[in-house]
Amino acid sequence: VKDIRLGMAGLGTVAQGVLEIINNNGALISQRTGLQLRVERIVARTARPEVDLRGARFSHELSDLYNDPAIDVVLELIGGETDALDLINQSLLAGKAVVTANKAVIATHGNEILLGNTKAPLKFEAAVAGAIPIIQAVQSGLVANRFEHLLGIINGTSNYILTAMQEQGARFEDALADAQRLGYAEADPTFDVEGVDAAHKLTILLALAFDSAFDFDHVYVEGISQVTPADIRYADELGYRIKHLGIARQVDNGLEARVHPTLIPKEQLLANVNDVMNAILVRSDAAGDTLYSGPGAGGSATASSVLADVVRVARILSGEISSATASDPTRAEIRILPITEVCAPQYLRIPARDEPGVFAHVANVLSNHQISIEAAIQKEPRSRDAIVDIVILTRATVESEVVDAVREVSAIDHVVGPIARIRVEALD
Ligand SMILES: NC(=O)c1ccc[n+]([C@@H]2O[C@H](COP(=O)([O-])OP(=O)(O)OC[C@H]3O[C@@H](n4cnc5c(N)ncnc54)[C@H](OP(=O)(O)O)[C@@H]3O)[C@@H](O)[C@H]2O)c1
Repeated sequence: VKDIRLGMAGLGTVAQGVLEIINNNGALISQRTGLQLRVERIVARTARPEVDLRGARFSHELSDLYNDPAIDVVLELIGGETDALDLINQSLLAGKAVVTANKAVIATHGNEILLGNTKAPLKFEAAVAGAIPIIQAVQSGLVANRFEHLLGIINGTSNYILTAMQEQGARFEDALADAQRLGYAEADPTFDVEGVDAAHKLTILLALAFDSAFDFDHVYVEGISQVTPADIRYADELGYRIKHLGIARQVDNGLEARVHPTLIPKEQLLANVNDVMNAILVRSDAAGDTLYSGPGAGGSATASSVLADVVRVARILSGEISSATASDPTRAEIRILPITEVCAPQYLRIPARDEPGVFAHVANVLSNHQISIEAAIQKEPRSRDAIVDIVILTRATVESEVVDAVREVSAIDHVVGPIARIRVEALD
């Protein structure tokens, strides 16, 4: 049995999960891997006397970790960007392997970290979809495949909110307040509900699956704050659920990289992944469709992935496996399509006065833009204001054409209020 000496930055949710798993399953891990995981040092801003540190030394200076010769692997579990980035860089420079759960740092600084580091392995399984071993699946289980797409629910907070809106007919604001009360959403939920967190994760998946650099700046990002209970109801009538998806797809003229609310057929497994659960559907040439589902957050769930990475880096350090892993930041950038060039079916909800000829007028504008209608519903007028919702599902159309058509439809005399537009994934 070989000792692996860990230095852990942070003593919050994930770090405590790491301590708990080592406490409960350390002997099992040792039996399976021949590795004895020992937390030598813990560095955090605030001490937590209620947490059993299992004999680890505690201090407040992050440099204590990379300056300590008795540490083999540094676990970066503090979150944030500046201090975390510095800790990762300094630790790698000092020749220590690093395991991080920090998607923001990898998505936005991954290239510079990898280019500056030739000395030690860096792993970040926990940064994408918590407990789900999706990076391991992409880099190992499916290594013999070319990827067509990876798409999935990669933000538990947004999924919780959309599920509540679906099941209880709740408004976005009420479902968000509920998620905050239950601890599923932060006090400042912007990163989660506006799609930034999902875009960080998608950036990482895209780079690994398509062997490219991390390119967060070109990922299209849209959150769920504009989704209304009416859209969820109409989608349901049309046979769809609305999910917040991250989509990475190889198409003829480049890569699609986009994060936004999406209608997906309700009989699909992905449409039935609810609450805070995550799921990623991978389509690759040899394996076909494979689906990965599980908890995308939580202390022990995330720590499960952190410790899987610890075992992996220990094997690299012992020479058992090679460290060639992460994306290739030197590779010529693969072109990520601007959203205007993406081709997808679209859901449109057009509020209009209940006057004769409005639907025909709308259909005419769409037809002038070569947009075919797949399905349409027109509801009875809302009680007092005599406004009807014209709901249209289009066939796959280039986004720029739909944007132009929607602008034109907005100008039609009896069309009132903003037009809702949500992309559709047929998943066939
Ligand atoms: N929680 C999850 O379910 C989850 C899932 C996937 C990935 N992650 C990622 O895992 C990382 C950690 O998340 P978490 O939920 O465990 O966070 P957390 O509960 O807020 O814990 C963060 C810990 O780091 C300490 N810390 C923060 N900045 C520090 C600094 N500059 N120097 C020293 N200590 C510092 C905090 O101290 P104080 O207590 O004094 O603030 C706290 O002990 C993040 O990158 C997050 O994105 C989390």
